[in-house]
Amino acid sequence: MSTAISPTAYNYKVVRQFAIMTVVWGILGMGLGVFIASQLVWPQLNLDLPWTSFGRLRPLHTNLVIFAFGGCALFATSYYVVQRTCQTRLISDSLAAFTFWGWQAVIVSALITLPMGYTTTKEYAELEWPIAILLAIVWVTYAVVFFGTIVKRKTKHIYVGNWFYGAFILVTAMLHIVNHISLPVSFFKSYSAYAGATDAMIQWWYGHNAVGFFLTTGFLGMMYYFVPKQAERPIYSYRLSIVHFWALITLYIWAGPHHLHYTALPDWAQSLGMVMSIILLAPSWGGMINGMMTLSGAWHKLRTDPILRFLVVSLAFYGMSTFEGPMMAIKTVNSLSHYTDWTIGHVHAGALGWVAMISIGALYHMIPKLYGRAQMHSIGLINAHFWLATIGTVLYIASMWVNGITQGLMWRAINDDGTLTYSFVEALQASHPGYIVRALGGAFFASGMLLMAWNVLRTVRASKPAEAAAAEQIVVVGAH
Ligand code: HEM
Ligand code: HEM
Repeated sequence: MSTAISPTAYNYKVVRQFAIMTVVWGILGMGLGVFIASQLVWPQLNLDLPWTSFGRLRPLHTNLVIFAFGGCALFATSYYVVQRTCQTRLISDSLAAFTFWGWQAVIVSALITLPMGYTTTKEYAELEWPIAILLAIVWVTYAVVFFGTIVKRKTKHIYVGNWFYGAFILVTAMLHIVNHISLPVSFFKSYSAYAGATDAMIQWWYGHNAVGFFLTTGFLGMMYYFVPKQAERPIYSYRLSIVHFWALITLYIWAGPHHLHYTALPDWAQSLGMVMSIILLAPSWGGMINGMMTLSGAWHKLRTDPILRFLVVSLAFYGMSTFEGPMMAIKTVNSLSHYTDWTIGHVHAGALGWVAMISIGALYHMIPKLYGRAQMHSIGLINAHFWLATIGTVLYIASMWVNGITQGLMWRAINDDGTLTYSFVEALQASHPGYIVRALGGAFFASGMLLMAWNVLRTVRASKPAEAAAAEQIVVVGAH
């Protein structure tokens, strides 16, 4: 395709590659989610093999859904948004291609090493040092491509979506590098440079900001571009978006200690984390309201446009999980919720309801445009996907709330003589129905992804090279 190297055309090749891989990794990561959820219902599914045991597949699930599915969605959309809002091609095609292949190499390495049991044991930072170094190189290259493109922009202004993407890229680099500082003792084993409570603090400074910057700020960048585009309305308040940006990034970075309540971490640090988490409700809801209010005058579109429905419902789940999070950060509430399935429900309200649904909405908006088609192959299938995803998420989180509160109350119940009222196994038995409902909800969600794959395949197949090349041309006049 000769136009692909034209300096007046966007680089959509890398966007298409990341977009397709988002769907592929989404199916694998969520399929694995359903499998590990089923292991908690039927333990026989551990198959008595070390590499298929829950303990090894669980981190593979989190790596595949966060870094493979979520990461590819962020790469795809950020490269798309930065080019269109800056009205220029990515600064380097070869560096962009390196980020694609490098990122896939990181994921495939995770796919091999995690089931084999190679792990740093730090949650969400499990990959051993050679892979972590590759990841750091890919990430710094990503920063060069993204910020380089911003520098050579044809527009005066830097659109707010790019501020969010930019903060996500910079802070993720900082977190990954600092948390991974370690001493390698062999090719597949390293020990953290930090020890004791310091190690825990650095790990959860990383862990919470992985949530705050990877799973939130990057996806807010997505929200600020795709919600106005799909609703065909300008963002509700540009001023609010600026306040939202600075307040969010200033506060998030302090909230990590809420993962370490009642531990050896100094008490003042726990209280600081709690207070910052509660204040975080304000910018989170500011962002949600800004997205929702963008639909003013366009609410009727929800009746006919399932893509817009994906985007708006994702914002509703974002609002819900960012209300729940600050509540769970209160020490007395956390004393009940910590270690229980309530946390798992909260995670997936954010992960399925917010992260996955906004990514799916953005992909349905973007894929036809990348391939020069007017719309996706089937709107009916998008609608079916929307309902599977929504019902799946609700089943998942409602069952985990019931389980979480049941577990918390059963674990703390004591008899008059001070002995425990329930044994651990009794609480586990009480959780079993909830695990069945969760696995069912997950199966709903994952089957929606299969519908998406079919719809994407048909849309891509219908595209002709000339249409795809025409879609890449930079149109300077008019909207992006
Ligand atoms: C079909 C969809 C999914 C199913 C069935 C599923 C299932 C599960 C299960 C069974 C666990 C382990 C829970 C435990 O240890 O008790 C888990 C953990 C986790 N999942 Fe998912 N998941 C799905 C999708 C996702 C997505 C899309 C994301 C992120 C974007 C995600 C992020 C996570 C995270 C971060 C954890 C670890 C939570 C923690 O340690 O507190 N999941 N998932
Ligand atoms: C204002 C926003 C939020 C606050 C204050 C918050 C707060 C919390 C709290 C207190 C916990 C439980 C910690 C524990 O007991 O161990 C937690 C866990 C978690 N949250 Fe949130 N949350 C927020 C938003 C979100 C969103 C939007 C997502 C996902 C996209 C998310 C993902 C997670 C994950 C993955 C965990 C589990 C971490 C682990 O233990 O492995 N949170 N959050």
